Amino acid sequence: MLTFILAAAIAASGPVLRPDNIPEIVSLLTLEEKAAILVGCGSTAFDGIGRNDIGVKGSAGATHAIPRLGIPSIVLADGPAGLRIDPTRPGTDKTFYCTGFPIGTMLAATWNPGLVTEVGRAMGNEVLEYGVDVLLGPGVNIHRNPLCGRNFEYYSEDPVLAGETAAAMVDGIESNGVGACIKHFAVNNQELNRLHNDARLSARALREIYLKVFEIAVRKAQPWTLMTSYNYINGTHASEAPWLLTDILRGDWGFEGTVMTDWGGGYDTAAQIHAGNELIQSGSDARYNALIDAVREGRLPMEDVDRSVTRALELIVKCPAYMGYEHSDAPDLEAHAAVCRKAADEGVVLLKNEGALPFGPSGITALLGVTSYAFIAGGTGSGDVHRPYVVDLQKGLADEGFTLESGLDGFYGAYMVDERWRCANVDGKNSWVIDRERPIEVVPVELIRAAARTADRAVVTFGRVFGEGKDRDLYHSYMLQDRELQLLRETSKAFRAQGKKVTVILNIGGVVEMESWKGLADAILVCWQPGEEGGHTVASVLSGAVNPSGRLPMTVSKRYEDEPSAPNFPLIFADKPFNYSFYRRLEGNKKDYTVKDIDYTDYEEDIWVGYRYFCTKARDRVSFPFGFGLSYTSFRWSNMRVARQDGAWKVCVDVLNTGGRAGKDVVELYVSAPGRDMDKPARELKAFAKTPELQPGESCTVEMTVAESDLASWSEESGSWVVEKGRYRLIAARNAEDRGLRRKIRI
Ligand code: GLC
Repeated sequence: MLTFILAAAIAASGPVLRPDNIPEIVSLLTLEEKAAILVGCGSTAFDGIGRNDIGVKGSAGATHAIPRLGIPSIVLADGPAGLRIDPTRPGTDKTFYCTGFPIGTMLAATWNPGLVTEVGRAMGNEVLEYGVDVLLGPGVNIHRNPLCGRNFEYYSEDPVLAGETAAAMVDGIESNGVGACIKHFAVNNQELNRLHNDARLSARALREIYLKVFEIAVRKAQPWTLMTSYNYINGTHASEAPWLLTDILRGDWGFEGTVMTDWGGGYDTAAQIHAGNELIQSGSDARYNALIDAVREGRLPMEDVDRSVTRALELIVKCPAYMGYEHSDAPDLEAHAAVCRKAADEGVVLLKNEGALPFGPSGITALLGVTSYAFIAGGTGSGDVHRPYVVDLQKGLADEGFTLESGLDGFYGAYMVDERWRCANVDGKNSWVIDRERPIEVVPVELIRAAARTADRAVVTFGRVFGEGKDRDLYHSYMLQDRELQLLRETSKAFRAQGKKVTVILNIGGVVEMESWKGLADAILVCWQPGEEGGHTVASVLSGAVNPSGRLPMTVSKRYEDEPSAPNFPLIFADKPFNYSFYRRLEGNKKDYTVKDIDYTDYEEDIWVGYRYFCTKARDRVSFPFGFGLSYTSFRWSNMRVARQDGAWKVCVDVLNTGGRAGKDVVELYVSAPGRDMDKPARELKAFAKTPELQPGESCTVEMTVAESDLASWSEESGSWVVEKGRYRLIAARNAEDRGLRRKIRI
């Protein structure tokens, strides 16, 4: 830090920026310099995601330096599953790969905030060592509908699980002395027409569901920055809404950090600064001139500009760029791969297991499905990562000592050579950065029947990849395809005829339909998109070296049509691959939109999102409930006790491992409110705890806390939080439908 200040002082020969002289520096800045600090350096290629080569090649954005006052430029780069910068640079053989960690959804599926913090710490170290100042993650929006193209970056349908996971991630990232950026604030739950869609919802749904995740993250972790979303909320653009950015974010929640726009988000620069959105990213001359004109024409008070510049400088003085940190460009990718693996191991969710798992590695394993040979490490768009490698399942199984049935292995080996070439060719011609061509599924019937005679079991992997700027296609992404179903049917028939088991692996970024085919599988394992070590994780779970302890962070409904938001979500058909983000760039701030689900989206389901809806109004419409996950061992809970402490309730439950294998368990604490003063969900998650690994016969006590304010609901009448009087039920359960252990408390 001293180095930087001295150097700046010599160059500047006047006062230079220090944490304790920001008001003086602001008073010395010209209007042009203030605008340069607030409006970013621009993007070199807006292919739908930010990229800029000013600070670090392939980062997303940067702010302008003002050398005369010792104000450095700071570098901003994506994303939630790892740092995204270009892996190579002209003129050097050195590479700049970054660890591809599990996707956000998988981190939430660990139900282990401590582990998520470990991931954040490793991820943030790469941000620091590659010379970046702020990581544009985590993405924390609610899984309102399974077809949202960015759900893989986000955590959950429940704001408490999502908020706790987000806070843990922010703490981990920022422990390195770099910034995190929770995004996209707020109500950014579909990709179609994302730059212009007007999300219309009640104040209660806004506060209890869509803002609650950000509130928890802000109150618990105080992230250095927050990114506003592209969309409107009830007619006002999120980046231009004082009620959101000043009244709620700072007034109610006490946010002390800096707000930035999404890349190219919003329209009215003056309105953004006035609302409390400091940084205009990625920035352009037009935005810069608009800001200066607005001040000169009296449409934007200078005190608004000075407030934003002050907040920008408060961020800058915390950054490594200001400290003059000498980054190494050599983070310990090997150590971080181990963290990646550890997190993925705990994020795998075992949905079904009828005598199939664990197995091997001895014996012969028939490995089927093109995705087994082309594993999906993460999603696409700004949330992608340039990873040093991806371990697919074939290699993961081989490294774990499995022997693969040679007929199928040889077939897929040859088949995938052509398919990999074809996919790379198609991807190379893709106009839209997020599309990824997938290998075409095949059904080698004769080889399957032969393998059923010689192999001991079958493993079939199905994959789904999607990403930013485009929502998922119901028929081609959410449903299994005919060839996939045919492959599963042929395999199931052949192997079950031999009394052998079939395991389905779902290598997916989000929910797929399962009800119609789950009977064909003896075991179903969801490995999500597990990052670069995915194949090793899955092989370790199949062999039993790892005992799965993940739990679903969302509901898997029986049919898409049963989703509460289905009547108000745009159905996309793959035959119309138009560029979704800019589908209807109506000029300027027009809000007189007319097309349902495209120009505007009615959140008609209100607070009834996920299990809040299914547990209360449609229990028979669920394949696998929120919070569900099996283990290779068994646990017994007992002695649930509640103690009133400092205005809250401390809930303890004893957990005993009654099975034959070591394992971890998750206790989910739900609350059921009286529900007389307003319609309330049958239960809502208020806390959770994951046990340490318990050996067979070992027990532990988990502690969870519920504050009285956690029981509050948002009253539309009074426009405030209200805690209903009466008797509440505390439910310690395995998932949203589990009866669990119960205790009563009274307000
Ligand atoms: C994108 C995304 C945002 C990302 C930014 C920079 O459009 O919406 O999540 O951080 O641009 O790439």
